Amino acid sequence: MRSFQDKAVLVTGASSGIGEAAVAQLRHAGATVFGLVRRTDALEASKASHPDVRWLLGDVTRPDDCSAAMQVVLDQVGRLDVLVNNAGIFVYGSLENISEQSIRNHFETNVLGLIFMTQAALPALTASRGSIINVSSAAGHKAVPGNSIYGATKAAVESLTTSWALELAPKGIRVNAVSPGPTESAGFAKMTARDREETVAQVPLGRKASADEVAHWIVAIADPGSTWMTGENLRIDGGMSLI
Ligand SMILES: NC(=O)c1ccc[n+]([C@@H]2O[C@H](COP(=O)([O-])OP(=O)(O)OC[C@H]3O[C@@H](n4cnc5c(N)ncnc54)[C@H](OP(=O)(O)O)[C@@H]3O)[C@@H](O)[C@H]2O)c1
Repeated sequence: MRSFQDKAVLVTGASSGIGEAAVAQLRHAGATVFGLVRRTDALEASKASHPDVRWLLGDVTRPDDCSAAMQVVLDQVGRLDVLVNNAGIFVYGSLENISEQSIRNHFETNVLGLIFMTQAALPALTASRGSIINVSSAAGHKAVPGNSIYGATKAAVESLTTSWALELAPKGIRVNAVSPGPTESAGFAKMTARDREETVAQVPLGRKASADEVAHWIVAIADPGSTWMTGENLRIDGGMSLI
């Protein structure tokens, strides 16, 4: 492990769940941390809960918001070392029942938003020879009947991770992913009790993770000492991907 001192990290979807746990742990590790949230009420709540994090307002599905957020980062600290693409939505829906709008929202947020944010951050990450951490899901590499659209968005995230790892290697930028299984969060709490139970039942270790248990590995990959890993997808799912 090396020091995060003088390192700047941007985490999207930082108002709750895994993103909030990540900003708290990264700040504790000594990084200058920027958290992007999309709602003004969430912005105020986040400022109150984590006053030592620098909070930004923006919707990752809007390229202009991504550019504006990056401009604030550069104006304030002049660099970005790590981008954590965590913002995402997951609403269970079978192929038969999921609405057109929900399908579009999943791809807009989980895929297009991640791409737009990464494009906005690319010049700064090139300058710092930084790294990108994409938050995928066990659903990105497992068959997920009843949740196929979400799974497809996360499969896209995993594809982008390996392609970008090679595409950006000449710039010295590393690109990795983490793939959580069921994890306690605001998003997870919104699922029906039955969907939550059925998902957790697929975990060999027999429980859901805490957001902190997932954020631990985001911090480990973000660590300035993690200099030789790229194109990896860390499965943090209590063994769920093994069955
Ligand atoms: N929890 C799980 O079981 C689990 C498992 C595997 C993977 N994941 C992935 O982990 C990531 C974090 O999820 P979570 O469980 O921590 O859920 P969460 O508590 O719902 O957090 C998601 C965050 O993303 C933000 N967000 C959504 N759309 C956005 C947009 N267009 N622009 C900016 N921010 C946006 C949300 O903001 P709002 O509050 O404004 O909606 C929220 O802060 C997601 O990518 C999810 O797919 C979660």
